[in-house]
Amino acid sequence: MITREQVMDRLATVMDPELHLPITELGMVESVHVDGGKVQVGVKLTVAGCPLSTRIESEVTQAVSVLSGVTDVGVNLGVMTPEEREALAARLHPHRESVVTAKDSKVRVVICGSGKGGVGKSTITVNVAAALQSMGRAVGVLDADVYGFSVSRMLAARQQPVVLGDGVIVPVDVHNLRVMSMGMLVNEDTPVMWRGPMLHKLLDQFLNDVAWGEIEYLLIDAPPGTGDVAISLSQELPKARVLLVTTPQEAAARVAGRVAQMAGKVGQEVIGIIENMAYFRCTDCGKAHPIFGKGGAQRLAHEFHVPLLGQVPIDPQLPMGGDLGEPIVWKHPDSEAAQVFFKVAKAIDETDW
Ligand SMILES: Nc1ncnc2c1ncn2[C@@H]1O[C@H](COP(=O)(O)OP(=O)(O)OP(=O)(O)O)[C@@H](O)[C@H]1O
Ligand SMILES: [Mg+2]
Repeated sequence: MITREQVMDRLATVMDPELHLPITELGMVESVHVDGGKVQVGVKLTVAGCPLSTRIESEVTQAVSVLSGVTDVGVNLGVMTPEEREALAARLHPHRESVVTAKDSKVRVVICGSGKGGVGKSTITVNVAAALQSMGRAVGVLDADVYGFSVSRMLAARQQPVVLGDGVIVPVDVHNLRVMSMGMLVNEDTPVMWRGPMLHKLLDQFLNDVAWGEIEYLLIDAPPGTGDVAISLSQELPKARVLLVTTPQEAAARVAGRVAQMAGKVGQEVIGIIENMAYFRCTDCGKAHPIFGKGGAQRLAHEFHVPLLGQVPIDPQLPMGGDLGEPIVWKHPDSEAAQVFFKVAKAIDETDW
């Protein structure tokens, strides 16, 4: 005889893919009917047409099927009422207090910054996040480059995030990374034309209204330079560490130095420097060629007394993976570039905070 309790125990093993909690805890199990070997489960989704409904349905079926005596599992999908969504919002994001900006926050926030554009911040944000995730950490990724958003494309996360109750936003799940980017809110080809105050408001929402959940790390892709966004981030996240990205040229390192100086002025620590596009390893002779010169990042590290955490080679798989939404760390974990990202992630993880 299969009991309702046995079924509920099995359902407690099914996690909502975006909320990262068991569906039983989230009030998503509406009903359980047992009739001999037949089990019928009613599941309430957070929103109608939830893109993850098939995944939830199959995981429920699988979880219940393993009970001995079960011959058939049926899943009825329903949708939460506005009141239920409101209650869930309150459960996920109690008192609207952000796990990230709270004074006693334990979340390690890493802001990926650079002086110049196009040096690889977004690539590095996404891959270091993916590396930390592969190491078993719970990681959020925030694309704070509101005008030049690209994280959504690099992680193939283009679906609209679920909004619960009165504006609690659920980050989009990508292989267990919790992702939030402007690219999920607007069409990719639509230019974002906002003035400073709107920008500040959006960042405030990204930090405070997103139910980031129990993350250990938040990696933030910042726009280049020391503008509006960098100032807003430093005000909201005084304890964040800055991961400085530069290319080997002396000129790029010099501009990156200004970002390091700004971090110092607002009391943010620079956790280290990554030199991107440091060299190209010749596939024929195996030698590393420093195509863009060398020395800039090392000099910067000396000047600011911070470690040079890694030197990422030029690798055509990086732009390719970026366009396909497949970070190299996941797609080619043994590549030289991926190994550098793992090394950097490990160094960050071993840093005293
Ligand atoms: N090590 C690398 N080897 C080859 N291509 C790279 C490397 N790092 C980054 N790229 C490519 O260079 C381009 C710029 O990288 P990315 O978008 O990450 O830079 P960014 O600093 O975020 O730029 P922006 O300032 O425009 O936001 C992308 O097409 C990316 O795939
Ligand atoms: Mg970028």
